[in-house]
Amino acid sequence: MRILVTGGLGFIGSHTVVELANQNHEIIIVDNLYNSKIEVLESLEKITGKKFKFYQYDIADKTKVESIFSENKIDAVIHFAGYKAVGESVQKPLMYYSNNLRSTLNLLEVMKEHGVNKLIFSSSATVYGDQGVRKYTEDMGRGTTTNPYGTTKAMIEKILEDVYTADNSWNITILRYFNPVGAHESGLIGDNPNGIPNNLMPYVMRVASGKLECLSVFGNDYQTVDGTGVRDYIHVVDLAKGHVKAIENAPDGLNVYNLGSGKGISVLELVNCFEQINGVKVNYKIVGRRPGDVAENYADPTKAWNELGWKTEKTLEDICKDAWNFEKNN
Ligand code: NAD
Ligand code: UD1
Repeated sequence: MRILVTGGLGFIGSHTVVELANQNHEIIIVDNLYNSKIEVLESLEKITGKKFKFYQYDIADKTKVESIFSENKIDAVIHFAGYKAVGESVQKPLMYYSNNLRSTLNLLEVMKEHGVNKLIFSSSATVYGDQGVRKYTEDMGRGTTTNPYGTTKAMIEKILEDVYTADNSWNITILRYFNPVGAHESGLIGDNPNGIPNNLMPYVMRVASGKLECLSVFGNDYQTVDGTGVRDYIHVVDLAKGHVKAIENAPDGLNVYNLGSGKGISVLELVNCFEQINGVKVNYKIVGRRPGDVAENYADPTKAWNELGWKTEKTLEDICKDAWNFEKNN
């Protein structure tokens, strides 16, 4: 298939390009480099031994999207492009609504004009909100989102549902990611957030490498295995393979899948594993809970297994090893 990958030089997009190329799909990448670097393109070519057509365009500009579709016969789109920083979205809501919604609307309109009806969208477990349960299944529906970033994901899911209701010829797959972490085993691509990271894994790596002094563990008084928060960490290569399965195996129509391991890991379990497997020290201190955090959540990934034939294969050890390998290389 000839697949347009928006945000294809970002963290999850770049790993997905590798897995799509491994299955001999033809890939066109569009990315405006807002949160990625052009060097990633070279790394992708090094890893796969293939060349990729690349557009450095902002897809919030509809004329740019139109020109990509006019120049290429596209079969399907995987849409990663968007802003994703939870804290920043609270400070700059308009920037988030504008970029995430505009880029998606442009894509949908231009796809319709060009008769392209196959779309995979990057959603997030954040759309479930806090429903007072630990394990989330797709049929639970969306809950209340707690920040503008999460709200853009919920709004786009709703837009996609309405588009499908109006025209059943669309094939739309919504993937709800749990906590993507890790890096490609080559150490050439991975997660490299700007500034001080909000998320656990990038923070752990900065502390291990001495760039930051100490990890603050947000609470050890939750009702969990050791009192610290529990999440479903998924290796980004497993996640990338989930996109290949979705593009190849998703049934016609509009379908939603959780992409997670189905296993909860606590903050201290992750820190301990990271220290042991990599032989490094991660200084940490226990501080108060972070507002908005829940004690524990993880995916029920059964639907993705039954319908897509996908489940995670990598372990927490792989996650910690590959993440650290990338950090050392960069
Ligand atoms: P990322 O920031 O690394 O990648 C997104 C890419 O999109 C970046 O390279 C950026 O430059 C590009 N981009 C942004 N706006 C653009 C625009 N208007 N035009 C062209 N390119 C644009 O993020 P990621 O972690 O790879 O996430 C990919 C997708 O998955 C995002 O939609 C994100 O919201 C979603 N998601 C991520 C996580 C996570 O924890 N990483 C969790 C759930 C969902
Ligand atoms: C966070 C976002 C969520 C977003 C997701 C992926 C919040 C409240 N939630 O989820 O909307 O979809 O990232 O981008 O921001 N932790 C620490 N110390 C740290 C960082 C994290 O102890 O410095 C703990 C957290 O309390 C949590 C776990 O580590 O228990 C994971 O945190 P994080 O990586 O931020 O992911 P989420 O909280 O799941």
